[in-house]
Amino acid sequence: MKKSRIENHYEPQILTKQELGSITKGLKRKLQSHDFDHETLNDDLFDLIFSPEVRNHSKIHWTPLSVAIKASEIIKELKVERLLDVGSGCGKFCLLTSILTEAQVTGVEQRDFLAVAAKKAKNLFQLSNLNFIHGSAFDLSWKEFDCLYFYNPFCEQKTPERRMRNDLNMNESIYNSYLQITINRLREQNAGTKVITYYGLGAALPDEYKLKYHKAVGSDFLKVWEKQN
Ligand SMILES: C[S@@+](CC[C@H](N)C(=O)[O-])C[C@H]1O[C@@H](n2cnc3c(N)ncnc32)[C@H](O)[C@@H]1O
Repeated sequence: MKKSRIENHYEPQILTKQELGSITKGLKRKLQSHDFDHETLNDDLFDLIFSPEVRNHSKIHWTPLSVAIKASEIIKELKVERLLDVGSGCGKFCLLTSILTEAQVTGVEQRDFLAVAAKKAKNLFQLSNLNFIHGSAFDLSWKEFDCLYFYNPFCEQKTPERRMRNDLNMNESIYNSYLQITINRLREQNAGTKVITYYGLGAALPDEYKLKYHKAVGSDFLKVWEKQN
């Protein structure tokens, strides 16, 4: 029997609007019914909703499904109300957590082409508890969020071979200043704020944050911290 295009291993092509519509419908249904069968729900299949360029960055830059699913369980357990993904890229983590939880999810991304991809995907999935902002994460107040997610967002600043595009001014001193601002921001958060990290954020969290959860998932650790006072 001739294999369908999807089964036929995800050629790097742009799908038609109709194909995208039916893929997102199927993915959403599977996620909402917790049907996490790897054969029919996996990163390659999910990433089909993005353009070939965005898909190509997935293995290094976008949160894997297994990690977002585990994080969503934790978000539900901790009764997170407002979640911010600091550096949301094409929105993969935000899309998955907004489908799998009832939290109000916000993603902030510095790159225009990624913020546009994220907004398109949000519309495809028709998600009302999700919002994407194009801009610097530091132009946004973090205090209104009770949970922050970091997937090593500033790594491109100090690792040239990881850069998605040479479109931004990047160097180690910007990296260090982003980390310092992040640490200061974390110190200012309200007591009870949760921080979820995958591959860390590049520095140790301030002492007020206590590690609540630590589990190997994907190719690193998912860690959850809570601010004590
Ligand atoms: C490793 S990717 C993670 C993407 C997404 N959080 C996920 O898990 O799928 C980090 C993203 O952070 C973005 N980023 C880095 N510094 C930023 C900043 N200061 N403001 C907004 N976005 C930033 C990068 O452009 C990149 O898309």
